[in-house]
Amino acid sequence: MSEVIIIDFDKNAPIAGSEYDKLAPMALPGYEAMHQMTLACLRSHLHKMSEKAANLLIVGAGTGMELVNYAQANQNWCMLGVDPSVNMLAIASQKIQEHNLSERIKVFTGYIHQLPNNPIYDAATAILVMHFIPDDGSKLDFLENIFQRLKPSAPFILVDVFGEKGTDELEAKISMMKCFWQEAGVSPEKVSELLEGLATGVYPIPETRVFELLQQAGFTKIIRFYTGIWIGGWVATK
Ligand SMILES: C[S@@+](CC[C@H](N)C(=O)[O-])C[C@H]1O[C@@H](n2cnc3c(N)ncnc32)[C@H](O)[C@@H]1O
Repeated sequence: MSEVIIIDFDKNAPIAGSEYDKLAPMALPGYEAMHQMTLACLRSHLHKMSEKAANLLIVGAGTGMELVNYAQANQNWCMLGVDPSVNMLAIASQKIQEHNLSERIKVFTGYIHQLPNNPIYDAATAILVMHFIPDDGSKLDFLENIFQRLKPSAPFILVDVFGEKGTDELEAKISMMKCFWQEAGVSPEKVSELLEGLATGVYPIPETRVFELLQQAGFTKIIRFYTGIWIGGWVATK
C-alpha cells in the first residue's frame, strides 16, 4: 500500500498561503463563481429556516474567502473559521481586521474534533478541504465531527476534487485541467507541482462515495449544485 501523505498548508501546500489568493482563482475552475453559489445555497436554506441571525462553522477557512464574503453579505451572520494552518489563518485574520469584522468572525487554529461537541451551528462549510483527507475512515470521521456540531435541519456545503484515480473519466478531466491551467496562465512549474500534489496528497473519491459518506455521517437531501471540471459542490442537510 502506498504511503499516506497529509498535506500541511504550512509545509508542503500545493498552493502556499502567500500565493493562494492570486493562484486559487487561476488553478480552481470557477473558484469565485463557486463561492458565490455556496453563499446562495446557504442563504436559500437559512432563509427557509427563518434564521435571521445565524452562527456558521467554516471548516478549512484558509485565507478567509468564505469568512469575509459571507460576513459582508449578511450582517446577522457570525462565524467560526477553523484551520490547522497558521499561515493561512494569519492572512484571514488580517482581512477580518481590515474589514472590521472581528466582532462577528472568530478563528481557531486546529482541527474540528478539538472544538466543543455541541450542536450550536446553523450551517457549516468544508470547501476544498476533505480531498486532502484519506478515505481510510478519516473522511467519515471528519464529516461526523461536522454533523455533531450542527443544529437539526442545518445545511452543510461540501466542495472537493472528485472522481476515481486511475479511471478514464478522471484521466480525461486531468487532461482538461492541464489545458485549463495553460489558458489561465499558470506556469509549467506550478502545473507540475499541482499534478505532484494530486498524485501524492489529494484523495478524490467518486460521487457515489461522496453520497455514501455524507449519508453514513447522517446527512440527507444531498444535491450537487456545482461542477468545475473535476471539482464538485454538494449541499446536504442534517
Ligand atoms: C485549498 S484551501 C481552501 C481554503 C478555502 N476554503 C477556500 O475555498 O479558498 C484548504 C484549507 O484546508 C485546510 N485544511 C487541511 N486539512 C484540514 C482539516 N483536516 N481540517 C480543517 N482544515 C484543513 C488547509 O490548511 C487549507 O487552509
